[in-house]
Amino acid sequence: MGAMAARVEMADVSWTALGVAVGRAAEDARPDPLFHDPLAAAFVAAGEAHAPFPSGAAADSPDIWQQMQVLMGEYVSVRTKFFDDYLLAATAAGCRQVVLVAAGLDARAYRLDFPAGVRVFELDMPPVLRFKQQVIDEVGAQPRGERIVVATDLREDWPTALQAAGLDPAVPTAWLAEGLIPYLSPADNDRLISGITGLSAPGSHLSVEYIDADFAKVPDLMRDVDPEMTNWFADLWKGGVGNDPVSWLADHEWLARTADPAELSRRHHRDLAPLFAGTAGFTPPQFITAQR
Ligand SMILES: C[S@@+](CC[C@H](N)C(=O)[O-])C[C@H]1O[C@@H](n2cnc3c(N)ncnc32)[C@H](O)[C@@H]1O
Repeated sequence: MGAMAARVEMADVSWTALGVAVGRAAEDARPDPLFHDPLAAAFVAAGEAHAPFPSGAAADSPDIWQQMQVLMGEYVSVRTKFFDDYLLAATAAGCRQVVLVAAGLDARAYRLDFPAGVRVFELDMPPVLRFKQQVIDEVGAQPRGERIVVATDLREDWPTALQAAGLDPAVPTAWLAEGLIPYLSPADNDRLISGITGLSAPGSHLSVEYIDADFAKVPDLMRDVDPEMTNWFADLWKGGVGNDPVSWLADHEWLARTADPAELSRRHHRDLAPLFAGTAGFTPPQFITAQR
């Protein structure tokens, strides 16, 4: 990795995307990976070299990356595999647009073999998308199909920005919101799902990593790992959805079903950290898929 020009500046919430990349890089390095994501290691190397992580908290902790790995365990591997399979199935079923809502450092446009003609839109805040592009350009990676980056704030009028970037609401879309829900308030999540529904032609698919208010207890459980990280995470939780996911999506015209990460981890021979296994005293995340 060559030298990057400057210190990386991102919103605190965007650093969580680098935490996900840590998990994906670890999976990619295994002899029996569930998926390949070579860009993940490049993102981690660039973030490690150029950042205090995150701003303020734990900035000087040299083993912050290992701590992230302890927290996440192999959850990211199972989660990534589930949503990879979802997107491949939704595009095989006819969706010709993929929208990665809060794409972060998701490299699916570079690593998944979507059917010909599928356009991948990536929505996230401008600084994380700039960081991502810098690393991609340094590595010289090329997307497998058309990739369209939309720098926007999901609490604002992102539907207008997405349509201006070329999303056609008359064409079925496969949406993915992975690792986003708890960082938005219930009102912002409602606006987000309304925006998604408003742009979704019949035949569209939606998948969401569902983590709700109960997870707000998680920062307390993290205190053993790193108190500064704990405080940092606590500030990021904004409340989630405040409803069970199937009802929430039904209210927004989606027929949803849930998948259990623990079941998937057994199937894939991966271990979930207690935080994600339902053994740490709170409701674990669920993976939701929905259609309309
Ligand atoms: C945990 S990361 C998940 C990234 C990606 N979906 C993945 O799984 O690799 C959370 C992402 O949500 C983005 N995010 C959070 N709040 C946002 C907002 N209001 N507008 C746009 N992006 C937001 C962050 O910038 C960050 O990239």
